[in-house]
Amino acid sequence: MALTRELNELVCRYDKYAELHRSAAMRDLERSVCGCAYGSTSWTTRREAERIAQLLELRPAAKLLDVGAGTGWPGLYLAELTGCDVVVVDLPLGGLRLALERAAADSLSQRCEVVAADGAALPFKDASFDALSHSDVLCCTPDKLGVLRSCRRIARDGARMVFTVIALTPLLADSERRTAIASGPTFVDSPDDYAVLFDQSGWCMQERTDITAEVLQSMRTELEGMQGSAEALAKALGSGEFAERTKRRQATIAAVDAGLLRRELFVARTG
Ligand SMILES: C[S@@+](CC[C@H](N)C(=O)[O-])C[C@H]1O[C@@H](n2cnc3c(N)ncnc32)[C@H](O)[C@@H]1O
Repeated sequence: MALTRELNELVCRYDKYAELHRSAAMRDLERSVCGCAYGSTSWTTRREAERIAQLLELRPAAKLLDVGAGTGWPGLYLAELTGCDVVVVDLPLGGLRLALERAAADSLSQRCEVVAADGAALPFKDASFDALSHSDVLCCTPDKLGVLRSCRRIARDGARMVFTVIALTPLLADSERRTAIASGPTFVDSPDDYAVLFDQSGWCMQERTDITAEVLQSMRTELEGMQGSAEALAKALGSGEFAERTKRRQATIAAVDAGLLRRELFVARTG
């Protein structure tokens, strides 16, 4: 699969994270923020995953696609929780290998498939999934509309999609906008509001919930955890990476606190 320069950079970044997040120090930090440890890179906590399972009405034999699932979060957990079948998709192979190992360790191999693919060009038949999820993926990918259209094509009639995303607050002044873009995920800036992207991709938006307060709490818990385990984390990540992450987390918290960035949870259905 030939990837654009942007997607190649993304693959390198998330492969590096998958490796770094395997250390005991990073797993402890993740557990303190998220409630479990899969090597996750989104802000979806265990509690939020349970909410997603309900919103998607997951049940045994339902077929779920988790796009941009990294090392398997939250797709594998959703399958374990509800008994559904799951396909986890992402591009970096290092993360997908860990997802496969985790599926085997959790006795999910029979109900889980791991596929390397671009979320904007999903290699599945039309109308083949009952439920779709993605956690903070659209703010980390350049072609948001492409991903939503690809998801729509493979969704069955009546299928649901639930996702979380970090976005710029509307109507920012130019200087605020620059700060928000510099402090948020790599592709936080969207050409249109997500409500417009739903229309353009053939999804019907059912719910839109502001979950900024929850993510701000998680970010603060993470920063406190980083400061409390600075020595172990600097050893696990390397001191340069640890210093860079601390600076970045402080900048993101400041931008969220100042109302420049928000995180939302969306629920959509096929028309
Ligand atoms: C914030 S991370 C979330 C990963 C995982 N869902 C989790 O919660 O830990 C965003 C993920 O989206 C993936 N991603 C971004 N663009 C993608 C694309 N076009 N196709 C597939 N995956 C993509 C990245 O590789 C990364 O793993």
